[in-house]
Amino acid sequence: MKILANDGVSQSGIDALEKAGFEVLTTTVAQEQLINFINENEIVGLLVRSATKVRTDVIDNCSSLKLIGRGGVGMDNIDVAYAKEKGLHVINTPAASSESVAELVFAHLYGGVRFLYDANRNMPLDGDSKFKDLKKAYAKGTELRGKTLGVIGFGRIGQSTAKIALGVGMKVIYSDPYMDAASVSIPFFDGQSISFNFKSISKEALLKEADFVTVHVPAQKEYVIGKTEIALMKDGAGIVNAARGGVIDEVALVEALDSKKLSFAGLDVFESEPTPEIKILMNPNISLTPHIGAATGEAQNRIGLELANQIISLLK
Ligand SMILES: NC(=O)c1ccc[n+]([C@@H]2O[C@H](COP(=O)([O-])OP(=O)(O)OC[C@H]3O[C@@H](n4cnc5c(N)ncnc54)[C@H](O)[C@@H]3O)[C@@H](O)[C@H]2O)c1
Repeated sequence: MKILANDGVSQSGIDALEKAGFEVLTTTVAQEQLINFINENEIVGLLVRSATKVRTDVIDNCSSLKLIGRGGVGMDNIDVAYAKEKGLHVINTPAASSESVAELVFAHLYGGVRFLYDANRNMPLDGDSKFKDLKKAYAKGTELRGKTLGVIGFGRIGQSTAKIALGVGMKVIYSDPYMDAASVSIPFFDGQSISFNFKSISKEALLKEADFVTVHVPAQKEYVIGKTEIALMKDGAGIVNAARGGVIDEVALVEALDSKKLSFAGLDVFESEPTPEIKILMNPNISLTPHIGAATGEAQNRIGLELANQIISLLK
């Protein structure tokens, strides 16, 4: 049985699948050639990340296909309900990348409070001629310790982010209309662990209290953070979006950064991905990464293995 990993899959996943007797193809087939390729090679399982789209055309025209697997969480690129209706298995790996995304959030936060995003842009240009000016420009940093992190959406990634925040001495508050209370346990290297209990508060209350806000909700029809929400935030607060483009209104965000209402933003995802707006890319107060939240060796290994194990139990 052949599996096509069209957006790649970790070696650990390939090894596990091959050991179970599957053949794994890692060719990246262009979207418009996908149906032909699947039919010609009698592909049984199609694995994708976020690039390949699995819409009704693929589902309707590929009779060999039995399973669609998404390495990661969001399945916006797959017509899940339709595929299931047609009898296909649709699987994903929701938990595998939470820690990696949470660490990226903190990369943005730590970079944000010390202006690393801007220093890294200007040091190569002016570091040798205007060292003292740059030193002054980036002198007013702040610490994260003792500050309040507001987490909007307290699922897997929201809770992983909370764990890091607690570990570095931050206060954590959260808002999640679908989760009234949550208990978060932080494991330490030596086997000790500490549990914290939280209660959800309103988004409005969170925005007023948090020094930094990070959003971890699924793709939504409406902005979770728009002009009204930003107006409620503390002056000089920072915000991170490593969830989905369209969760934060980018126009309102740029306005808030330009007017200094907010001090910085960290963005891993963009409304017009994969061609983010120039106004976002060129803004000196935005720390930018190209949707790499789950892109660590550890997460990709877990994703590959999780997919392989599910495929083996469903198709063998
Ligand atoms: N940057 C990346 O590379 C990357 C990688 C993985 C996941 N993600 C994204 O991260 C997001 C969160 O993933 P997760 O695994 O934590 O999902 P999850 O389902 O575990 O948690 C999402 C939480 O958001 C809550 N929620 C839904 N709507 C809400 C709203 N309007 N306000 C507040 N809370 C709301 C839900 O109740 C849930 O608890 C998803 O959008 C996912 O696509 C990004």
